[in-house]
Amino acid sequence: MAIKRSSQDNSSSSSKTGKKRRKSSKPAMSEEESLLIATAGIDEIENNNEDSLRPQSLAEYIGQKSLKEVLHIAIQAAKGRKEALDHLLLYGPPGLGKTTMSLILAQEMGASCKITAAPALERPRDITGILINLKPGDILFIDEIHRLNRMTEELLYPAMEDSRLDITIGKGQTARTRSIPLSPFTLVGATTKVGSLTSPLRDRFGLIQRLQFYEIDELTLIIQRTADLLKITVTQDGAEEIARRARGTPRIANRLLRRVRDYAQVKEMATIDQELAATALDLYNVDVMGLDWTDRLVLSAIIEQFRGGPVGLEAVAAATGEDSKTIEEVYEPYLLQIGFLNRTHRGRIATEAAYKHLGFL
Ligand SMILES: Nc1ncnc2c1ncn2[C@@H]1O[C@H](COP(=O)(O)OP(=O)(O)OP(=O)(O)O)[C@@H](O)[C@H]1O
Ligand SMILES: [Mg+2]
Repeated sequence: MAIKRSSQDNSSSSSKTGKKRRKSSKPAMSEEESLLIATAGIDEIENNNEDSLRPQSLAEYIGQKSLKEVLHIAIQAAKGRKEALDHLLLYGPPGLGKTTMSLILAQEMGASCKITAAPALERPRDITGILINLKPGDILFIDEIHRLNRMTEELLYPAMEDSRLDITIGKGQTARTRSIPLSPFTLVGATTKVGSLTSPLRDRFGLIQRLQFYEIDELTLIIQRTADLLKITVTQDGAEEIARRARGTPRIANRLLRRVRDYAQVKEMATIDQELAATALDLYNVDVMGLDWTDRLVLSAIIEQFRGGPVGLEAVAAATGEDSKTIEEVYEPYLLQIGFLNRTHRGRIATEAAYKHLGFL
């Protein structure tokens, strides 16, 4: 499988961070701690490491059972008909394996995967250049697809529907449209915000699939697999301890494992067991539920400054000095998942479980 990355790809990682300086009076989190949990805005080094850890086949991809079943059928059917796979929209919080799945699809289809992100597709020629160069059956992966601009999006409609590119040449009265045939290809779109997609774009995806947070046992397997690849010795208990604190997210699981490895190395411990994992993660300020400094800041702001809510997202952002988009897309999904936060039409509410966890009850 050939993995092509356009030179513009990197724009996605920096634009995703979107973090503002914290205004809070609470002690500032160290760079190390903030990187540990931040699922968005991965630095380059971790990005490169990430590629080497990606599972290469559907069989190797742990968890997401129903997604795998659906895709397995789609792959077999498309292969049987010798056609490109249907266009696929993957949505869900960051770090759950959307990019990985896209690369696996290309592998399974015996095709190439071209990776880009909506912020890199600014001018019409950015997308036309990519589309024209696709070979039959290729996969085009567009990350953050909800951020496409209108012109790019409209170029994609006939491309997705009829493998055709409609381009306008000239301006005003002399303007004319030319149609260029494209190779049949598969668009895989990834987004953390499926609700922000326009309906014409959403309707052109044959498959729309949500990625779920991973269970502890699945994360434990992912950690064991990564440990093998990185030649780290970790006991079952040790892997489970890391898994419990990984917020249901493989990317975080792998990152926590690396930090625990650092700790073990400095302390000259050959094996990561439960005690060592717990001590190291406590040190890094990742608590037993996997909450980090920002999660706790968000919850305690709702509890202390807004009497537990309901409170609007913008007010929480202002109170914490955190970017509202980052709260909504990175922090909230997990807090909702573990039942520490409820979202009502009147705003966010901290639950009794959150009060208890933070020691307010
Ligand atoms: N099912 C899985 N089994 C094993 N490892 C996985 C799985 N899913 C993801 N990973 C690992 O987690 C890391 C993050 O995955 P990936 O980059 O695919 O996430 P993503 O959903 O594309 O995130 P983002 O939304 O931030 O782009 C990768 O290093 C990958 O190896
Ligand atoms: Mg990705």
